[in-house]
Amino acid sequence: MGNFCCSKDDDSTEIDTTTPITSQSIDHIRSRLAVLLKNVPSSWLGTTYPNDGRYVGRQRFLDEMLPLLNGNDEIKEENLAQFFPEDYVRLGSPLSTLLEMLRALEKGYSPSHVFCFASNALPVISVLLTATSTVYIYGAGEMKDDARVAMLKQVFKCDFKYTAGEPVEGEKGAIVLQISASVPDKKDLSPYVDAVASGDFLYIVNSKKVLLKDLKDAKGKMVRESIHTIRKRFGGAIPTPDALSLLKGEELPAKPNLDAFNTHLKELAGCATSQVAPLVTTTGLASLIACNLAALELGDHNVDILMASTAYGGSSQQTEILSKVSGQITKHTFGIQGKDDHVLEKITEALAAMKSGPRKPLTCVLIEYPTNPDMKDCDLTGLEAVLTDYKTSTGSRVVLCLDTTFSPISTPLKGLFTETPVMVWNSLSKSVSGGFTTGGSLVVNENKFAQQWLTRSHAYADLLDVHSKNCQLKILADNHMNTETRIENAHQNAVKAFRHLEAKVKTVSGQDMKVNFVTQAQLDKHVRPATFSFNLPPPAAIQSDNKAKAAFAQKFVDHLVTSYPKGIKPCVSFGQENTLVYVTVPATSTQGVISEEIKAKQAVGGIQLVRFSFPPRMDLSAFTAALDATLLKFYSPSAAN
Ligand SMILES: Cc1ncc(COP(=O)(O)O)c(C=O)c1O
Repeated sequence: MGNFCCSKDDDSTEIDTTTPITSQSIDHIRSRLAVLLKNVPSSWLGTTYPNDGRYVGRQRFLDEMLPLLNGNDEIKEENLAQFFPEDYVRLGSPLSTLLEMLRALEKGYSPSHVFCFASNALPVISVLLTATSTVYIYGAGEMKDDARVAMLKQVFKCDFKYTAGEPVEGEKGAIVLQISASVPDKKDLSPYVDAVASGDFLYIVNSKKVLLKDLKDAKGKMVRESIHTIRKRFGGAIPTPDALSLLKGEELPAKPNLDAFNTHLKELAGCATSQVAPLVTTTGLASLIACNLAALELGDHNVDILMASTAYGGSSQQTEILSKVSGQITKHTFGIQGKDDHVLEKITEALAAMKSGPRKPLTCVLIEYPTNPDMKDCDLTGLEAVLTDYKTSTGSRVVLCLDTTFSPISTPLKGLFTETPVMVWNSLSKSVSGGFTTGGSLVVNENKFAQQWLTRSHAYADLLDVHSKNCQLKILADNHMNTETRIENAHQNAVKAFRHLEAKVKTVSGQDMKVNFVTQAQLDKHVRPATFSFNLPPPAAIQSDNKAKAAFAQKFVDHLVTSYPKGIKPCVSFGQENTLVYVTVPATSTQGVISEEIKAKQAVGGIQLVRFSFPPRMDLSAFTAALDATLLKFYSPSAAN
């Protein structure tokens, strides 16, 4: 059929040399795509995808889909369900990747070189952020927005020049970025253009300059982030419902009424009277970037950020990227990996150490409440006293960002924080949406400075164009009201499962294992996660085998999943409104970007943490039967492991 190519290996095909396809073959692909869209598996529509062999990566996914669409083999739902480009929708979904592929083929670009964003600003910003030399921007009348340029130049320190006329060759290494309302065919592009940004899409021509993949050194240390990494840390791909509509040529939905949703978000944070409207963005991390940029502005572009070394990997990496590009943030961390490490104690120690360093105009403390992945508490009253003390003794303005994603119903602002500006940050991708879309929200307390902080966060969300899309708002408006029930029911399932697990491990291994779960004190404060983590004791057969112990948590998870695939999904995330238990080893999934040294400290006896997240409805006895059988397999006296 078509005479186009799709690179087998991005690294070996740096320059896009795709041969354009004929109009006949694109018509064939479009008609095959229409058939495919009638066979979309339901597993393609969620927010998390299996973290096993079906997670084949973006390139392999394209390599499977392209011949399928280009050929004539029957398109079967069960076959499609074997392939996922990513493990989480923020990184790209099967449908957003197909949309990228279609757009690429229509205009003669390589399918792996086209990225869509749930933002019309991030395609350009991602190029500027990943460039190491001057970017010459052509055709950018509407980009000459003062506030956006100020953000790009003063905060992101981007080096770019607007240029008129036909693109010409820049100095050696310079990047030529063309901005076009309609995308030119690749064959009609000036030979000097390295990438084209058009609306929510970025078309990369020269991937030596505009990176498809992160550049790392021999030790795996990040040298330069790729477009894909900026997209996943600042925003996300076009949401699945919109990708589906665009593939079908249908209209995108209108904005739903959000009055009840906005009120509910404030109530969940414990501050129904908060004056500034909540910020609601395309993903949780999009809220964090808006919040961090606003903090930077209010802190005279000179800010300390303190967070746990084992915080969610995305929060850590985003802060590092922002710190690296701006040179205006110093990231400090505190470790809470030890079983007996207390969050407040560790923050107090870290702030005490920071007192003797260069004090910044603003200090932002970011805490997961409760923490990821071991559900640790923080005494918020004690914390306010510690923050006030830091402010008094250093003169730095102290602000607090509370990530309540694990228990969004915990109302942390209720009756607390009269002095301290507090931002309650929540990834709506979990319990609030039920896992049906991604999203993020920011709500502040009544403190005047906090309100200014949120107002400026709204402005940065505008500049990044990361406000939630209407299709996402529709899902949120339809699902938020069940958040409390969903969380309470899921929490009850988690309680029953953790009691069962602790008892069974004792029986099969003879060893005591304490699951990391909320304490009575946390329950009294309305903290109700449905997630817990645990370090299994090393089975006798591998006691002295370090390699086997390092691999054990994943091996346990893999076996558990295969023993009950109907009720267990090997994947990240939590808060799901379904009947599946999500299981993962955070060290290799959600904490993928955290250093090995830091993660090693959360292993016990050489065995890494396993994390279980529970749904509101499930067959608990079938789950515990699978759990028991898996424990027996690894801990019975005859187990070889
Ligand atoms: C604790 C926590 N906070 C924030 C986030 C970021 O949310 P999102 O995936 O919606 O960007 C995550 C994502 O998994 C998380 O686990």
